Amino acid sequence: MMSTAEEVSANSSFIACQQRMPGLWRELHENPGKFRVLTGERTTGALHIGHYFGSLRNRVLLQDMGVEIFLIMADYQAITDRDADDAIRDSVRNILLDYLAIGIDPEVTTIFCHSMVPALNQLMLPFLSVVTLSELQRNPTVKDEIAQSGTRSVSGLMMTYPVHQAADILFCHGNLVPGGKDQLPHVEVTRLVARRMNNLYFGGEQYFPEPELLLGATPLLLGVDGRKMGKSLNNAVYLRMSADETRALIRRAKTDSERRITFEPQERPEVANLLQLTSLCTERTPEDLAAEVGDQGARVLKEMTTEALNEYLRPIRDRRTEWEKNMADVWDVLRNGVAKANAVADETLGRVRAAMGMDYFTSQ
Ligand code: TRP
Repeated sequence: MMSTAEEVSANSSFIACQQRMPGLWRELHENPGKFRVLTGERTTGALHIGHYFGSLRNRVLLQDMGVEIFLIMADYQAITDRDADDAIRDSVRNILLDYLAIGIDPEVTTIFCHSMVPALNQLMLPFLSVVTLSELQRNPTVKDEIAQSGTRSVSGLMMTYPVHQAADILFCHGNLVPGGKDQLPHVEVTRLVARRMNNLYFGGEQYFPEPELLLGATPLLLGVDGRKMGKSLNNAVYLRMSADETRALIRRAKTDSERRITFEPQERPEVANLLQLTSLCTERTPEDLAAEVGDQGARVLKEMTTEALNEYLRPIRDRRTEWEKNMADVWDVLRNGVAKANAVADETLGRVRAAMGMDYFTSQ
């Protein structure tokens, strides 16, 4: 449980972060070359339209604006909240294809995974030495995850993965981290690590940048059952689903008994959700869409949503089909991304080792 003082402080960091957003976007448009983005996700399953509209779409936008991007599939972080098993392999495959399908261009964006970049683990060690146990224990996101897992035996990795995440971000000198509100505590740990490493080993020089969070849209989509979209709930439209699977899923979406369709997010969240989704795909307002359906009821609304979504997803599906024809190329994307990430990470680790006085052979 968070104490009131901790809650107040977490809230004020979030508000400060939100206030930074318009200025940050302005800077991004004016000078995209100034930024290097590092972001990604745990490899706990394929990506769905909630991920897409909440964050993935933004990455393609940033990429196409000319921002350099590193995308991490955090497979070592995935083992904080589940047992490692074969599903990790499927997740990596699916996420890789999801990235390519949405328009991530492997010629300009670097895709890699934790487990194949050993220098990340090496950086984690000195990073761990500059944070205190109580700082780790205060992290609100970690606390939430522990509470949600309902377990009393908390692993060492659960407590320290935010410092591993600091290595993810700092190895490539990432200065911008797109993510949700839950990532803010991790970005704050990263800033702390950067500052302390700079002071301790780099004479106060800004060797490591202090990154900022670029807040994504709060997840505005619910699953078809009206609950949060989630992989275990069987209620999400996955990017890898076919048009027919999407149709079947939307057909069984929960609505209410009122025939006339209106946009009232508070009173009619399920109907509003379908309207929001249609609006995201068509760039028409939910009110306008509601008026068009009017008295024709939920069945017509669902047809409209299905059409709009399938139309929107068509180029994404086409790109996926193309890549899937040649999985060797897909794995080469990862292979090349991993090679690039390793080169960058080894360079950073070399600098850090030298700064710590551990470059025994080169300094003789
Ligand atoms: N913590 C992120 C998640 O829960 C995944 C992640 C790992 C990440 N390393 C990162 C996100 C670095 C942004 C930056 O999905």
